[in-house]
Amino acid sequence: MLTEPSAAVVRATLPAVGAAIEEITGLFYEKLFRAHPELLRDLFNRGNQAAGSQRQALAGSIAAFATRLVHRPDERPDVVLGRIAHKHASLGVLPEQYPIVHEHLFAAISEVLGDAVTPEVARAWDEVYWLMANALVAIERRLYAAQGVAAGDVWRAWEVVSRTDATADVAAFVLRPADGDSAPAFRAGQYVSVQVELADGARQIRQYSLTGAPSAATRSIAVKRVPGTDGTPDGEVSQHLHTHVRPGDLLRVSAPYGDLVLEADGAPLLLASAGIGCTPMLAMLDDLAGTGHDAPVTVLHADRSPATHALREDHEALAAKLPDAAVHFWYEQGGAGDRTGLMDLSDVTVAPGTRAYLCGPLPFMRAARGQLLAKGVAAADIHYEVFGPDLWLAAA
Ligand SMILES: Cc1cc2nc3c(=O)[nH]c(=O)nc-3n(C[C@H](O)[C@H](O)[C@H](O)COP(=O)(O)OP(=O)(O)OC[C@H]3O[C@@H](n4cnc5c(N)ncnc54)[C@H](O)[C@@H]3O)c2cc1C
Ligand code: HEM
Repeated sequence: MLTEPSAAVVRATLPAVGAAIEEITGLFYEKLFRAHPELLRDLFNRGNQAAGSQRQALAGSIAAFATRLVHRPDERPDVVLGRIAHKHASLGVLPEQYPIVHEHLFAAISEVLGDAVTPEVARAWDEVYWLMANALVAIERRLYAAQGVAAGDVWRAWEVVSRTDATADVAAFVLRPADGDSAPAFRAGQYVSVQVELADGARQIRQYSLTGAPSAATRSIAVKRVPGTDGTPDGEVSQHLHTHVRPGDLLRVSAPYGDLVLEADGAPLLLASAGIGCTPMLAMLDDLAGTGHDAPVTVLHADRSPATHALREDHEALAAKLPDAAVHFWYEQGGAGDRTGLMDLSDVTVAPGTRAYLCGPLPFMRAARGQLLAKGVAAADIHYEVFGPDLWLAAA
């Protein structure tokens, strides 16, 4: 909880900090990466840096956290922290890196806001930073302990057992631990980070949702190749995995993390995805099929065409194993026997008390969420995963 004098200062300076926060975080990253180039090369996603989206996510999260602190002082604003902590844990972020981020963030704040940063203002925002940082460190400590690893020690070598082309643009990889151990279980909906060494020596990290059953002896991911468009470069890691990784190769893969996890307690479930967002849904369906889940499950997916719908047969076959599942697939370009156009829930029955999981591009999730709310699904029962920095979180 923020002390009262600091809360008053944060409340008074929030508009000024909020207005300058993108400039502040931009300068912060410049300073951080000048002092620690290895962090940009081997830890941060340089595609996100180039596109500016990570900048917005970090900036947004600090502003959202400070806003919550001053407006709802009695609540622990952990809601915005879980997702960040899971992402940090999947990257192996360490407690001793927080003072480094602090140093460069506060140097950037002073430079952008100048004389407005009196010692009193600096102290108040320092308190916000450390409340957030210490809360993150505490959650991350628990997340490392839950995997039975020392802080940050999340990386292991995994061997590629098989690789199949799920569609022209999606490659599915099955992995097993290179040391011969069995794969530790994960929770359906979670992802792993994968780190690859690129041609220039950078070791870039990206996240991939696990697609197989949580208790399987192997782990599976499905990677969509991201092409460059209108002058933007090809996606670095997805292209690398597509071009270079074959059965027998070793991949550096993190322990599983992610706070979008399936809760199956008998409430009606709704799993709605679009494009490559089907991956966490496949793990959820595999889990439900494996545990003999018999409550109603509505399985929805939208794609460009049946041919671009990755793992479509698995999607259908897993849903078919459930005794009470309704399945609807929408294809923009049409497809025999399925629905045409964008996902439209007007004639889809959504049972009272439904718990929904969404994954896909942000415009798809906004539209799906709006339709679900209109059909009476409680906002708290709509869970989602974003395949990039969470800009929804920033807007929360
Ligand atoms: C929790 C989570 C789960 C995920 N699960 C999956 C999954 O199951 N399957 C899957 O395929 N993906 C998944 N993703 C997405 C995945 O992590 C990667 O983001 C994706 O593979 C693209 O990475 P990349 O390295 O190929 O592209 P990047 O190199 O990161 O590029 C991403 C985009 O940024 C653009 N860009 C790069 N540089 C610039 C520049 N200078 N200017 C402008 N634009 C630029 C690129 O053109 C591209 O469009 C998931 C992401 C998250 C966060
Ligand atoms: C209080 C301090 C911090 C805050 C508020 C913060 C906030 C965030 C947020 C909001 C995200 C995006 C999460 C998502 O939606 O995916 C993120 C990602 C990330 N954070 Fe932090 N973070 C902090 C400290 C740190 C530290 C100390 C490090 C390590 C040096 C770090 C490294 C990263 C990395 C590498 C990512 C992923 C970036 C990407 O893939 O683009 N963060 N952080």
